[in-house]
Order: sequence, then structure tokens, then C-alpha cells
Amino acid sequence: MGVRLRVPRETADGERRVALVPEIARRLVKAGHDVAVETRAGDASGYPDRLFSEVGARVVASSGELYRDAEVVVRVGMPTRAEIDALPEGTVVVGLLTPHRFLDEVAALAKRRVTAFSLDLIPRITRAQGMDVLSSQATVAGYKAMLIGAERAPKFLPMLTTAAGTIRPAKVLVLGAGVAGLMAIATARRLGAIVEAYDVRRAAGEQVRSLGAKFLELEINAEGQGGYARELTAEEKAKEQEMVARAVAEADVIITTAAIPGRRAPLLVSAAMVARMRPGAVLVDLAAESGGNCELTRPGETVRVGDVTIVGPLHLPSQLAYHASQMFARNVQAFLELLIGKDGRLVTEYTDEILTASLLVTAGEVRHAPTAKLLEGR
Ligand SMILES: NC(=O)c1ccc[n+]([C@@H]2O[C@H](COP(=O)([O-])OP(=O)(O)OC[C@H]3O[C@@H](n4cnc5c(N)ncnc54)[C@H](O)[C@@H]3O)[C@@H](O)[C@H]2O)c1
Repeated sequence: MGVRLRVPRETADGERRVALVPEIARRLVKAGHDVAVETRAGDASGYPDRLFSEVGARVVASSGELYRDAEVVVRVGMPTRAEIDALPEGTVVVGLLTPHRFLDEVAALAKRRVTAFSLDLIPRITRAQGMDVLSSQATVAGYKAMLIGAERAPKFLPMLTTAAGTIRPAKVLVLGAGVAGLMAIATARRLGAIVEAYDVRRAAGEQVRSLGAKFLELEINAEGQGGYARELTAEEKAKEQEMVARAVAEADVIITTAAIPGRRAPLLVSAAMVARMRPGAVLVDLAAESGGNCELTRPGETVRVGDVTIVGPLHLPSQLAYHASQMFARNVQAFLELLIGKDGRLVTEYTDEILTASLLVTAGEVRHAPTAKLLEGR
């Protein structure tokens, strides 16, 4: 027995990823599943239709045809209203749905009586690491952000000894040393820069140092529940700002990645700090999508403020769509192993803690409590 798995072409602006890549499609076909992919679903990420056909996945001409007999739809982002309306009742949708940003669509999914799992709601426990799309996509974003910073900077990053004299290595500052920040640090180190990093979670210090970077320390520890950061008090914030301001003024490239789940990104770099930045310095604000870590960031834009460049990139994982999709697809495959029983059928009792936590809607109900609350409050 196999499951009918369907993979649409993503339609959101700026989205270039695909939820399943041929390598994973091959494994699923081998396991006895019926895999169909909408034509050109992988074009933007470097996986043309023929690569899917070669591994035994069917390529279908339209989303209407794709959804008609779908059992499970695996996708990157939230479907549009039209796509939701085309889903057969009872279909299971799996994707990085970021429900708090798409409340209308969540309500429509419930009304359509489909079951939706949102991969960003998976608990960050060891057993779930293989399906952690937030980590895999943050890895991509951190790497790409550092490359953007290096590319925009008017300087070499490594130290060079040349016939034209010695070049001093550039200074990179990374604010927020979670998954994306650590990847930005590792990338900057490979490029030969001197790297400093700061995070409110003191536990990040060891990871930062192990990458050969310096960890900036405050006399506080703001590690909250589940390894995430808590919000700082006013006094803590003032001390933090003083230390950050000093580091900002000395950096050539700054990558900001600070985030607190479910809240606006913390403001770490004020306009006054930007005014004291080195001429030619570049700040890449990875938090642009959730409000920005820098006061002057404009999401989706690159702005010049005096001699400083501030980049607010959106859709960073899509800029490295080949590997972002590959990692995403591996995460999806790991999740499907929970969703599909040993008998090759979909499980109907969602008792596993990972399934319970990521279950967004089912049987006409919004099951993720914080999202249900947001919907009620509208
Ligand atoms: N399965 C697992 O066990 C698992 C998986 C992924 C992540 N984690 C842990 O969770 C941590 C954070 O994950 P993430 O990268 O998704 O986090 P995130 O994207 O929510 O936040 C990025 C970073 O910003 C930091 N931050 C928040 N406020 C800040 C401030 N005011 N100043 C400076 N930094 C600030 C956070 O501490 C975090 O490290 C990871 O480093 C890791 O230790 C565990």
C-alpha cells in the first residue's frame, strides 16, 4: 500500500524552492508511494521535470489535475485561497505554513475540512532534528547573508600579504548566534575575517568560540524556555545596547539574526549606532522579515545611510534554492516517516508528540492553540 503524494509548484512571490527533490521522490516511489509533481515545480531550484520523471514520479500539467486525487500535499509555503478550495476534503497538507502570518488561509483550511501540519511548529527536541525546517532553512539564510555582506563590502575579508602591501582582515560582527548566526560566523571565518558575535543566550558562547570567533559577554543570561531567548528587562537592555554599540562602531560587516519566537524581532542597532558605523560598512539584517534588528532596515530593500549600506533581504533560502529545497525535502521525508505507518498507510491517530504539536487544523477545527487564539481575537 502506498500513499498518493502530491507536490505543487509554489506560487508565492519570491519563492523558488520546491518541497520534494528527485532524490527524495525516488526513495518515496521505491517505498511504494505514488508521487506526482506539478510541471515546472522544480524549475526555479534546478530540478527540471525530467529529473522527477526519471525517478518514477509522474509530472502533471496543472494544479487542478495534481490535487484531484491527492492524499498528501507536500509544499513549502501556505497555499493560496484558490489552492485551498481545490483540495479534496480530508487531504493532508504538510508545509512550512507560518500560520500566524496567514490567518485567513488557516480559517479556509479548516473550512475546507483538510488536515494541515505546519513544520515550523515541530518541537525542537532531539528526535525531531531531522525534520527541523527552521534549522535547515536558517542554515541556508545565514550562509547567504554572510556572502551578501562580503559582496557588498568594499574590502577584502581575509588578511593578505601581497607585493602591494599587507591587507588587514575585515571585522565581522554577528548579532544573534542561533542556527543562522552560527552559519554566518562559520562562513565569515572561512573567508578569513576576524569575527565577533553576541547572543543573549550565554550557552551560545561555547559554540561561537568553537568556530574561532570572539563571544561578547554581558553579565546576564536570558535563556528562556526550550532553548529560546526571553525578553530582556529595561536595565539589561541598556547595558546590552552600550556593548553592542561599541562593537557595531568597529565592524566592517554586520549580520543580524536575533529573533524571539512569535514576537517582533528585537531592535539591536539604532539609527544613532548606524551613524557611528565605519565608512563603507555593510549591515545585513536577517530579521528583516519579522520587523528587523536595525531601526533603518527596510524589508526587501537595500538602503544607503551616509556611507553605510543596510540590506534587508527577504526570501534568502530561495536565493540558494537548490540546496534549500534538498534540505527541506529531507526534512519532509523524515516527517512523512511519522505520518505514514509501517503498513504504508497514513496514520489516523495523531498520538506522537511531534504530530500533535505540528497539527494546525483537522476536521474543521484549528488545533494549534496560539493560532486559534489569534483567529478568535480578530
Ligand atoms: N532540535 C533541537 O534541539 C534544536 C533545534 C534548533 C535549535 N535549537 C536551539 O535553539 C537555539 C536558537 O534557535 P534559532 O536559531 O532557531 O533561534 P531564533 O531564530 O529564534 O533566534 C536567533 C538567535 O537570536 C538570539 N537573540 C534573541 N534576542 C536577542 C538579543 N536581544 N540579542 C542578541 N541575540 C538575541 C536568540 O538567542 C537566538 O540564538 C539554537 O541555537 C539551538 O541551541 C535546538
